[in-house]
Amino acid sequence: MITLGEGETPLVLSRRIGPRIGCPQLYFKMEMCNPTGSFKDRGMVVAVAKAVEEGREAILCASTGNTAASAAAYAAHCALKAYVIVPRNFIARGKLAQAIAHGATIVAVDGNFDDALRLARELASCHPWALVNSVNPYRLEGQKTAAFEIVDQLGEAPDMVFIPVGNAGNISAYWQGFVEYHRAGYARQLPRMMGVQAEGAAPIVRGEPVANPQTIATAIRVGNPASWQLALKAKEESKGAINAVSDQQILEAYALLAREEGIFAEPASAAALAGLLELAQKEDLSRQVVVCIITGSGLKDPDIVQSLPARIVEVEARIGAIEEALGLR
Ligand code: F0G
Repeated sequence: MITLGEGETPLVLSRRIGPRIGCPQLYFKMEMCNPTGSFKDRGMVVAVAKAVEEGREAILCASTGNTAASAAAYAAHCALKAYVIVPRNFIARGKLAQAIAHGATIVAVDGNFDDALRLARELASCHPWALVNSVNPYRLEGQKTAAFEIVDQLGEAPDMVFIPVGNAGNISAYWQGFVEYHRAGYARQLPRMMGVQAEGAAPIVRGEPVANPQTIATAIRVGNPASWQLALKAKEESKGAINAVSDQQILEAYALLAREEGIFAEPASAAALAGLLELAQKEDLSRQVVVCIITGSGLKDPDIVQSLPARIVEVEARIGAIEEALGLR
């Protein structure tokens, strides 16, 4: 009854990166093609539908930006109020623009995502608002559908799935989806879940919460993930791994995706590819079917593009001037 057209996102075969790193069967799952530009819409539509069903008048979330953008959009679609709590100065401009555009009430706290989530949980316990963070089980029920789609698109589960890990809901949802599809007989195998965190925000890799997480990939700037245990379960049951990559590696992968594949992803999404690039140096991937989850759009975080060299020539509006500037005369 409620939809903005989420899901059914393309699975795109890598044309240049895969062949070059010896992984010719590398695919990108284009979750940035969801209505608000990130995978969050798959879960948000379910959580918001349930909030409507329960007769709620408002929804509430903590967010590094994408959850807020998605919550704001679906609240607008369903005529609910949305309250979003974000870490002040650490939300990408595009995401803030979305929350503003959709009319959410934005609370910018002096603190990080972990503080925002703690406050959101406290507020949800004393106000009649639906908490739509991934601690809401309906979120994971929606997000697991991406795993179903990947199996449908490939005709089988892949061998490995590289996925960025922040609050750890999505890796948990994918694993749940692959397991359920396998049990239902739609896939013969299960993939290894390869989670990727940013080095400065890698609590699961380190085995302890990070009090002051830091990374340019603000989407995954999380120090104490809510679904930590579920993510560990996904890693262990799938014989996968959760590793960390540096901001430098993230920026390199970001540039590669944009310039060699035509995929403008946000830095958090590039972290998944950075994790694969590192593994490709150590493991033979020539026979592996690998999927990288492109969780969000590069348009969300336009400031990061400054890390790339730009080709902009400023000229008079005259053909001769353009040809001269381009070195054609
Ligand atoms: N990629 C993007 C683009 C994200 O926005 C997020 C999380 C993740 C990956 C990690 O997913 O949290 O399920 O492990 N963003 C959350 C938010 C934290 O508030 O928008 P996760």
